[in-house]
Amino acid sequence: MPRLSKPAPTRVDAIVLGAGAAGLMCAATAGLRGRRVVLIDHAPKAGKKILISGGGRCNFTNIHAEPANFLSENPHFAKSALSRYRPQDFIDLVDRYGIAWHEKTLGQLFCDGSARQIVDLLLDQCRQGGVDLRLGQSIQDVGHADGLFHVTLNDQHFEAKSLVLATGGPSIPKMGATGFAYEIAKQFDLTVMPPRPALVPFTLDPDQSRFTALAGVATETIASVGAAAFREAFLFTHRGLSGPAVLQISSYWRPGQSIELNLVPQRTAGWLAQEKRNRPKSNLQAVLSDILPARLAQTLAPIVTGDSPHAAQLSNMSDKVLSAIETRLARWPFRPSGTEGYAKAEVTAGGISTAELSSRTMEAKRVPGLYCIGECVDVTGWLGGYNFQWAWASGVVAGETL
Ligand code: FDA
Repeated sequence: MPRLSKPAPTRVDAIVLGAGAAGLMCAATAGLRGRRVVLIDHAPKAGKKILISGGGRCNFTNIHAEPANFLSENPHFAKSALSRYRPQDFIDLVDRYGIAWHEKTLGQLFCDGSARQIVDLLLDQCRQGGVDLRLGQSIQDVGHADGLFHVTLNDQHFEAKSLVLATGGPSIPKMGATGFAYEIAKQFDLTVMPPRPALVPFTLDPDQSRFTALAGVATETIASVGAAAFREAFLFTHRGLSGPAVLQISSYWRPGQSIELNLVPQRTAGWLAQEKRNRPKSNLQAVLSDILPARLAQTLAPIVTGDSPHAAQLSNMSDKVLSAIETRLARWPFRPSGTEGYAKAEVTAGGISTAELSSRTMEAKRVPGLYCIGECVDVTGWLGGYNFQWAWASGVVAGETL
């Protein structure tokens, strides 16, 4: 019997693992510089998360993106890449392709049409750069010998001086997300900061059922934990709390902590005493119903008045009591039992330690030729286009170097 021999390796300049936002950007940038690049993904199509992002319209950047909008063990790490590839650079690219866009709110830019346009743009850039795109490939092995990285697929074998990890984080496993980048990083002895679900809804214990019964009720809030605070909408769900303000704060939350919601962010101190003077015969629920959804007011009023309907008439309450109620409404504590986990997390916080990487190039300091970009790195953006901006910026600075 003749022995089956391993296929002869195909030599390229760079192997990029993961054809998501960061990998596509990096491969295109390197390809357009004349590098021979192979871009490998186990999914049958490129940029799956881009396609579903922003409700199908892709919130592709945020015009206010700056390092303060990112979480990382080292808050300075993202500065270099973010300053070298700015939101305007991506907007210029989008404009070159004639893709119409609009600002929705808070600097968040969305396609007028479809997220497909962003994926097509990136694929076209890759085509122009001669990138060899290999989709639907399962990676059997990654190794390093004689100054070259080796990547083995089922029936192919590539070798290159540069290897880029761009396989993202484990958020939304049913879309094919994995912790593969962490495994490879550990194989090369790089430290991985403990990953955790971020931009994720909270769950509440069953004893909080009077709040989960409000599923679908939404209102504006200032959500806070520690020094972090976000003023946006929040939403009760059947299992807990969600909505932009809550998703934002979830990235800063650690198990066991309480969060606070300011349920009356538009009111200033003394507003209830003023209401008492304006309409003394009104009860608290009626007053709250004027500024909050009726069902929420109905739930909150008995809690803050100790279930006493008589006392709930404003004229029966001292200014001191009203002031205490104001404080309670402005600092409503919720102790989440947990989060909805990776199944619902928009991103993964933590990841490959920034201490291992050059902030200018994303190259591993101790493993020359190995680059880590995008979500697999311990840099996590706020909700609102920041995570794609990080993917573009880290992808470009690596692509300009390798
Ligand atoms: P990304 O996840 O994009 O790509 C990783 C690639 O690696 C994937 O193609 C995957 O198939 C591949 N891969 C994984 N494991 C592999 C393995 N073992 N072998 C081979 N390939 C493998 N951000 C934002 O700024 N604006 C927005 O509107 C949204 N909206 C949004 C909606 C939803 C529902 C989610 C889940 C996320 C967002 N995000 C977002 C976040 C954003 O999608 C995310 O931060 C970027 O896609 C990260 O880019 P990466 O390229 O690092 O990973």
